[in-house]
Amino acid sequence: DKKRVKIGLLQHLYQFVRSSSKPSLPGPPSRFLIGNMMELTHDHLPIHLTDLGQRYGSIYRLKCGKTTMVVLNSCEVIREALVKKWSDFAGRPISYTGDIVSGGGRNISLGDYTEEWRAHRRLVHSALQRCCQRSLHGVIERQALHLRKVLMDYQESAVDLSEDFTVAASNVITTLAFGKEYDKTSPELQELHHCLNKIVALWGSSWISALDSFPLLRVNAVSKSVYVLCLSYFCLSTFCLQAQNKINEDAITGFLLQGLDKHQSTENGELLTDVHVHMATVDLLIGGTETAAAWLSWTVAFLLHRPEVQTSVYEELCRVLEGRYPKYSDRHRLPVLSSLISEMLRLRPVAPLAVPHRAIRDSSIAGYFIPKNTVVIPNLFGAHHDPAVWPEPYSFKPERFQEGGGGSTRFLMPFGGGARLCLGESVAKIELFLFTAYLLRDFQFVLPQNECSLPDLRGVASVVLKIKAYKVVACPRP
Ligand code: HEM
Repeated sequence: DKKRVKIGLLQHLYQFVRSSSKPSLPGPPSRFLIGNMMELTHDHLPIHLTDLGQRYGSIYRLKCGKTTMVVLNSCEVIREALVKKWSDFAGRPISYTGDIVSGGGRNISLGDYTEEWRAHRRLVHSALQRCCQRSLHGVIERQALHLRKVLMDYQESAVDLSEDFTVAASNVITTLAFGKEYDKTSPELQELHHCLNKIVALWGSSWISALDSFPLLRVNAVSKSVYVLCLSYFCLSTFCLQAQNKINEDAITGFLLQGLDKHQSTENGELLTDVHVHMATVDLLIGGTETAAAWLSWTVAFLLHRPEVQTSVYEELCRVLEGRYPKYSDRHRLPVLSSLISEMLRLRPVAPLAVPHRAIRDSSIAGYFIPKNTVVIPNLFGAHHDPAVWPEPYSFKPERFQEGGGGSTRFLMPFGGGARLCLGESVAKIELFLFTAYLLRDFQFVLPQNECSLPDLRGVASVVLKIKAYKVVACPRP
């Protein structure tokens, strides 16, 4: 026992010496008991954290109960943590709510960095790669053409397209995952969208962060949010279980279930089970639906603000493709469209604060000591609005990504980076490209005649950054 006490004391002394030899992190004054909790209740957290970055620099700390959070606001420091020192910061915060909804961390997005998690992510990654090679292009084309038909049927009336974008995005994922697509009016799809909406909204809410930081709050009113969140996860799980398909080898679940059999017989016994397969499909639906749909809604809204950009993308599509629909391989021949996509990923990274990371060992960022268990928040929105990198960071200027425009995609990180890089990055890139190209080839988006104000571009920030509802008219191109 004496030996253990000695070792404990030595460890503390070592940490003290290490931390005191480095400068201490700047940050807003921390209040008694609640620390900087109030900073996290701001209605547009990414903008607020970016503003704090202007005051305290590209890296600063926030205290929340016993947890110390470090917010990273520039591409340089985010890269240092997520890519260069990926193995130090690949963890996820140990979270009360996260633990409940992930069945003890057995999903990819919330699971901590363990051997089990690595095997899980590897398996799902290879399943996604395989399905992408086999069928992704066709799956997206089919949904894009379906979306075209839906928009044609509106016959130039003023409509809110967000639900149609969500249907298109979720059908891409359900086709990849289960080999199934759903009709907009089907009760299953409506239930699915209801759950996804609730999950995304609640994850970002301050109730949930409060609950994770202050165990004493885990009582009635606040627990209700957790209850609703768990219920939504449960409904989503039920949806995935019903749709899961072992027979269809072309679908991700079929491939995963078979991969599981091989995995169990060749590697450490029961490392992965069918619960992991099931949790992976929940992850893909949450990660892949609201993000892509929100991004499309943002793009149409920004184009209403600058109609001439829409015209130049349309003219480029006509000139280069001579009437046919584009393929993803055409992207290098379509610089105007590509610059629009890059600018939208910069201005509205739809997962603006990524997903919080956790230091799994003592480390450092930008010369500051970062002790084990510190929660690290990559403020991607902040990095994409850094005035040192982006002149006029809040302006919508796709031309900055065109030749001679000065902007470089090297400084874009909408999908995060390193060990936790968005698992659906390649799916998302093809999806955003094809959906945008198909929509702008066939339609001109205009403001409804009786509408005098353009869509509000501030947005509502939760885990996903969404635009407030607006109406638009889709006029078919000749
Ligand atoms: C994680 C962005 C679409 C699945 C993430 C993260 C970001 C992100 C920033 C967090 C990375 C981190 O923790 O550092 C986006 C954007 C998308 C998009 C901007 C589209 C516009 C998708 C799609 C899928 C997907 C289509 C599924 C096919 C996931 C999963 C994770 C994730 C499973 C968790 C990865 C992990 O924890 O290891 N995404 N995503 N995402 N994304 Fe995406």
